[in-house]
Amino acid sequence: MSGQHLLSVADLGADGIDEILQLTDTFVEVSARPIARVPALRGKTVAFCFYEDSTRTRVSFETAAKRLSADTVNFSIATSSVNKGESVRDTVETICAMGVDALIVRHRSAGVPWQITRWVDATVINAGDGGHEHPTQALLDAYTIRQELGSVEGRKIAIVGDVAHSRVARSNVAAFTALGAEVTLVAPPTLLPPRLDDWPVEVSSDLDAVLPKVDVVYLLRMQKERMTESLIPSLREYTAGYGLTRRRVDLLADDAVVMHPGPMNRGVEIAAEVADLPRAVVTNQVRNGVAVRMAVLYLLLGSGVDLKPEVVGA
Ligand code: NCD
Repeated sequence: MSGQHLLSVADLGADGIDEILQLTDTFVEVSARPIARVPALRGKTVAFCFYEDSTRTRVSFETAAKRLSADTVNFSIATSSVNKGESVRDTVETICAMGVDALIVRHRSAGVPWQITRWVDATVINAGDGGHEHPTQALLDAYTIRQELGSVEGRKIAIVGDVAHSRVARSNVAAFTALGAEVTLVAPPTLLPPRLDDWPVEVSSDLDAVLPKVDVVYLLRMQKERMTESLIPSLREYTAGYGLTRRRVDLLADDAVVMHPGPMNRGVEIAAEVADLPRAVVTNQVRNGVAVRMAVLYLLLGSGVDLKPEVVGA
């Protein structure tokens, strides 16, 4: 991976994505050891600046940093001076003045991680900026597809639901298509972005017709917190048209997998019983997320050291 930061999937290209996914294998192996810790980032400090809610992404990055022996600094908006009106710039400059090597940033506004790179010297990793990008989610999803199906290249992937508000959809379309998959977006027109001309995707509003043709069905959460108007008649009607119900699962090929970035709205975009089927690989996505983030942190902060087994403490 070239460059100091990880801001978007587009910055990586197919080769950069591939490099991270290959290195992830090593960290999957490290994570499976009885003592899942290597000294690769000893002496480095990673700080978390989450201006928006998160469960899995924050815990996953923190676990990844700790398994690499980095020190971690947690900064919680609820108890910080952000509530006294401190700006993002003053906040990150303050944190970095204490000696921080990397900032993991989540913010409700698109572009904030880019702005932060102009203010501080630390490495910045985008952990989700508004409805824009979520690059490490796309990397862990691509890794999971490789693990489940052998490759991303040539796979047919349906991304279903609230594409308009989804940073996961944007990053995943970029990653999956860079790796040679064919992506179909399935959503009611009101939940698609207004312009799709430069998206390398097919579009459909008929989920039943798409399901038999795909290797992966990737469900998106209804992002109610980003909706400013009523874009669907009701959640019940959304589920009737676009939810992965038990009946719809039977339309899938035998070896097709079901994915979701979490948090799931069981009973809305995915039926509760479908989320618990063996072909729903949501827990594998979460598990792989730690190893993918270890690979990203290692590549960005590991000062270019070759990843030989002795370096990671094998
Ligand atoms: C996603 C996010 O926050 O972008 N969750 C995640 O990071 N796994 C998706 C979502 O909130 O629906």
